[in-house]
Formats: sequence, C-alpha cells, structure tokens
Amino acid sequence: MESRRWLVQKMGEAGLTAEIDGVGTVIGRSALPGPALLIGSHSDTQPTGGWLDGALGVIYGLEVARALGEKSRTRRLPVDVVSWIDEEGTFFSCLGSHSFCESLAPDVFDTSRDAGGRTLGEALRSAGLWQRPRARLQGERYRGYLEAHIEQGPYLEEAGKRIGVVTGIVGIRNLTISASGQQNHAGTTPMHRRKDAGRALIELAYRVHQAFPEHAGPRTVWTIGWVEFEPGAPSIVPGRASMNLQFRDADEAKLDELQSLALEMVEAANRATPVEVSVERPHDPSRPASMDEGFQRHIADAAERHAAGSWMHMPSAAGHDAQVLANRMPSAMLFVPSIGGISHAFEEDSHEDDIVLGCQVLATAAASILAE
Ligand code: HGY
Ligand code: MN
Ligand code: MN
Repeated sequence: MESRRWLVQKMGEAGLTAEIDGVGTVIGRSALPGPALLIGSHSDTQPTGGWLDGALGVIYGLEVARALGEKSRTRRLPVDVVSWIDEEGTFFSCLGSHSFCESLAPDVFDTSRDAGGRTLGEALRSAGLWQRPRARLQGERYRGYLEAHIEQGPYLEEAGKRIGVVTGIVGIRNLTISASGQQNHAGTTPMHRRKDAGRALIELAYRVHQAFPEHAGPRTVWTIGWVEFEPGAPSIVPGRASMNLQFRDADEAKLDELQSLALEMVEAANRATPVEVSVERPHDPSRPASMDEGFQRHIADAAERHAAGSWMHMPSAAGHDAQVLANRMPSAMLFVPSIGGISHAFEEDSHEDDIVLGCQVLATAAASILAE
C-alpha cells in the first residue's frame, strides 16, 4: 500500500488525477478529453520475483505521460497511466485488469485464496480497500491500451535485437491435482499395504512429462511448479499430496487437448492405485489474445526510428494484462531484452540502454497513435 501511495503522488506530480481503487489498482487519469491511451502494467511480483517484471511498464507509463506533457507538440495528447494489482495470481491472475474490464466472477472475493488460505475479500478488508469503488473501463474514453514489459525469455538477446513487437499472448491453464491415501508409519507399514499419496503424484508427474511432448505444439510449455506432501515428514507415508500442473499455448484448441489429456491421466492414476487422485477445474484460466495490428505498426515504426533494424515481431510466452484489455479495446505490447533470458528470479535484469530505448519507443508510438 505504501508503494501505491507513492505512485499516486508521482502520478499527481505528472498532472494526472490518481487513485488507488477498490482492488488496489492505481490509475491516473489525464484531464484532457479522450480518446486517450491507457498505458501501464502491473506492480505486484512473484515470490522472489525480479525488479523489472511489471514495474518497468508502470514507470514507463508515468514517464510517457510526463514526457508528452513537456512538449507543445504533444502536450494535448491524453495518456492515462495504470498499475494493475495482482497480475501474478496471488489471488487471481490479472485481478486488476479483469476488475477494470468487468470480467470478474462475482464470487471471486470469497473463492480466491492466497497460498496462506486468506480470501481476497479478507485481504482487501485488512488493506482498508473493501468499501472503495473499483475503477471501471469507460469504453468511449480509450483509443486503446499499450503495455511495455521485459521479454522474460532468451529470444531477443539470441537474435541480437533490442525491441520486441508482440504479436500475441499465450493462454494459461492451471490444474490443481490432489491425491488422498493413508498417512502411516514409513517403517512398519509393509509396501503392499501402503496408500502413498506422494508416490501417486510423483508417478503421475513423470507420466505427464512423458506424454505431453507427443501432443505439444511448437511453442507449448508446461510446468509442475508446486508439489506439497502432507504432513511432509521423512518417517511418515504421506496421506495427502497436491501439485499444480500449468500449461500454455497460443492456441485455445491445443490448451483444450492438453487439458483433456491431463484429465484422462488423472482418471487412469485413480484406477491404477489404491490412492484417490482428483483434479480441480482451472481456477483462473487466461485466454490467448492477438495484439492490434495497427498498434504493432506504430511500435515497429517507432522502433525502426530509434534503433533501425534492431527489432522483431514475436509472440509472448508470458501472460500479461494486455490479453485481458484486448477483449475490450485495441491493445499492444513491446518487449525489452532480459539478460540471459532470466525472469521470475532475483537475477532478472536488463541493460540500462535497452531500458531507456524501450521507453523512447513507447513514447514515440503513443504519440503517433494519438496523433493519428
Ligand atoms: O506467468 C506469467 O506469465 C506472468 O508473469 N504472470
Ligand atoms: Mn511475471
Ligand atoms: Mn509481468
């Protein structure tokens, strides 16, 4: 909350009317009449996340609003600036942008929980935001949405390029798979009598990594990033276990195919072991989205102007708020390179000249879109 109050103050200094809304999104609105551009990203992070994921695009938005306001040629171009809450899914992926676009299920405040089991509603009450109005999209106000972000992967660096013009964003599915067996003594319980929930999930995880490659598309990715055994002690056969299987692709049909495959594998595990294996439907699925062609051209022209030849079109294998905004208005993204392709880790970093270039390209693209 302290960082959001700091951002409200900075947006005010840039001439914007800024507020923290009822889910924690910070939005600063220009006094100029629309159609405006909405520019920003998210300010929440992954656990042990890096310093640029999200924050780069928020500060770029602030800087573009300031820079355009400094020149007579661009002073009349309206830019609103936004810092979305909870893009990373502490409670619900892209919570802030879904709230703004009014695409949240009404029960999300009771059904979404953080890793500690706290509901979103409880968290908002303890932050003092519960009764506060939530910012909503007034469709006619915006010409569209722009988001700058670090690439978080290796492709720009490997290609020797400095700007990525994003063509589309992957959809993401998370399946929580659970096993229920019988907690027992790890020594005295004969092997044939065990109902080892941990073993059931480890074997299922192995089979997923064996089967998915045969069904994967060229850019399909999947991760089992979280496994939990209960009670989680060396001398106890785990009675319960759960894990999260996440998979991503730009094609909704491919996501459906992989989800069906995973559900079949859970069923097979259920039949094959004395342990009960089950799976929850995805809690906050994100859908693939294409970026606006016209906006892509503005970004590409701006990149060509500031770094001739040093840019390329590319898809995003990371999820972003832009894929939510794209359901409601023309949206587009630009990437700056990540050193070593590292992200969602403290080592995440980008070269300073690439960071400066990214903001210059965004400002030029924003001005040319608004001047159009
Ligand atoms: O995981 C993602 O793609 C995003 O960083 N939340
Ligand atoms: Mn992230
Ligand atoms: Mn991000």
